[in-house]
Amino acid sequence: MPALFSRYRPEIDSLMKKIVCRRESQLYDMIRYHLGWIDENGAPITGDSGKALRPGLCLLACEAVCGDHAKALPAAVAIELVHNYSLIHDDIQDNDSERRHRPTVWRIWGVPQAINAGTAAKVIASMALGEYRELGFTAEKTVEIVMIIEEATLHIIEGQHLDIGFENMNDISVHQYLEMIRNKTGALISAALRAGATAGCGERRTAEKFGELGMMLGIAFQARDDILGIWGSAKATGKPEASDIRRKKKSLPVVHMLSSASKSDRASLDRIYAMEQIDDCAVRTVMTLLESTGARAHAEALVDSSSARCFEIIDNLPIDYSYRTELKTITESLSGRDR
Ligand code: IPE
Ligand code: IPE
Ligand code: MG
Ligand code: MG
Repeated sequence: MPALFSRYRPEIDSLMKKIVCRRESQLYDMIRYHLGWIDENGAPITGDSGKALRPGLCLLACEAVCGDHAKALPAAVAIELVHNYSLIHDDIQDNDSERRHRPTVWRIWGVPQAINAGTAAKVIASMALGEYRELGFTAEKTVEIVMIIEEATLHIIEGQHLDIGFENMNDISVHQYLEMIRNKTGALISAALRAGATAGCGERRTAEKFGELGMMLGIAFQARDDILGIWGSAKATGKPEASDIRRKKKSLPVVHMLSSASKSDRASLDRIYAMEQIDDCAVRTVMTLLESTGARAHAEALVDSSSARCFEIIDNLPIDYSYRTELKTITESLSGRDR
């Protein structure tokens, strides 16, 4: 990952810890476990806490508009907590048993408690913005940032609603797919950049442009995630292999395969997707048809076209050349990531 992520990481982690570790009950241990800070028995560990992409982008946008990333720290941490809330709930919704190379929260404590942990993370996220009082922000500015994040959170839920609904539908168009990923993934990455620029008191128009960049980056990011969800190695991603297929997810390669398979292949796919559980043999058939319909190249083309659009937006941002270069490096690295 580009240097950006290690540069801000200590400050992000330190405020996250301050906010989450204030609370002692076992409820919060589930969040600390998910964040890779403790094991399931409460012993401290240095686990995988994720890439911290969204808070990094938030701080970078702030620094790019005002020269000081610190004004965006509470927003960055709130966004990372919203992201983690969405992951805890997503793993329940997707029935996934592994995340970041470890058993998911619901696998250890059960679904009801994982719902509690995720919901608590969401509330702590909103409360993190209370830190803005210490930074001397006006109530108006704080509310503006709160609304950017709350709106994005609602979009995530809308996206998850579509994503889950699509599991039982086989005729999803690329247009419907894009609407789903704009919500479930694009909205929060967009909010990260927009909230960062807003916290740095950038012009409203500039903040909106950052938001547009985040949306496009989110599309590239999710399309890449879809590729990894099928062809990624569990060792790199920390998630079980082919789980998107087993869960009947209408990820981009699958959308392409279903719409471009021959009549007889489509009939086999319909039979597979009508099964209660997609078994190993059916997963192999799906993999073969993904290959023969060129589904991977189709998904890679969306990653490439979205990245190219990101470059255009970046070129028009009224920020120093060095920040534009950094944003381009990040776009490139996210488009080719393997974890
Ligand atoms: C995973 O996001 C969920 C998606 C939107 C695809 P990340 O890949 O950013 O997750 P972590 O935080 O790095 O684990
Ligand atoms: C990504 O969901 C978006 C959210 C978590 C809200 P996915 O289900 O596609 O992501 P992974 O592959 O589990 O990380
Ligand atoms: Mg999901
Ligand atoms: Mg998932």
